[in-house]
Amino acid sequence: MQLTWDEIEQHVAACTRCPLSQTRNRPVIGRGDHQADLMLIAEAPGGQEDQQGFPFVGRSGEILDRLLQDSGLNRDEIYITNILKCHPPGNRDPREEEKEACFPYLKYETYLLKPKVIVCLGRVAAQRIISPDFKITRQHGTWTYRNDCALTATYHPSAILRDPSKYEIVKSDFIEFVKERDTRRKMP
Ligand code: URA
Repeated sequence: MQLTWDEIEQHVAACTRCPLSQTRNRPVIGRGDHQADLMLIAEAPGGQEDQQGFPFVGRSGEILDRLLQDSGLNRDEIYITNILKCHPPGNRDPREEEKEACFPYLKYETYLLKPKVIVCLGRVAAQRIISPDFKITRQHGTWTYRNDCALTATYHPSAILRDPSKYEIVKSDFIEFVKERDTRRKMP
């Protein structure tokens, strides 16, 4: 079975597959261009996102927007989503059962989008999507290829909030991500 974008939104809005549905204010589904070649996958909505129902509207979102601008991107040409669609209280790490309960939604999003490049933001996304032993510090910016899609990861914007010296590292990664997207766009 495959859902349409509207159906994904409706299912997420009504979702009770895990206990986060009891504590969330608003579920946060992915946003952006449904034709995008570049998909960003982060961890889970934060407190601001939980209030507003959109991904990356808080302080991490400000960093993300700077990164996008500095690498020649904007939100209208990419698609941004999270592993979890609901905010884990206190910003704790997502639990295994929460990630598994939510994973079908990410699958539906990815299937509809068919991105050429997937960028995981942070360890939680990279370990769920690329490899369970993925190490951001050593492996950020490296590529894995799966079903005509190039997958990679970099630090989560919140890591830059904690350590601003990471900004330039992540910016360089983003510039490479755009190059990879553009290369793959030209492939037959
Ligand atoms: N952090 C995330 O991982 N996702 C968001 O949407 C916002 C902050």
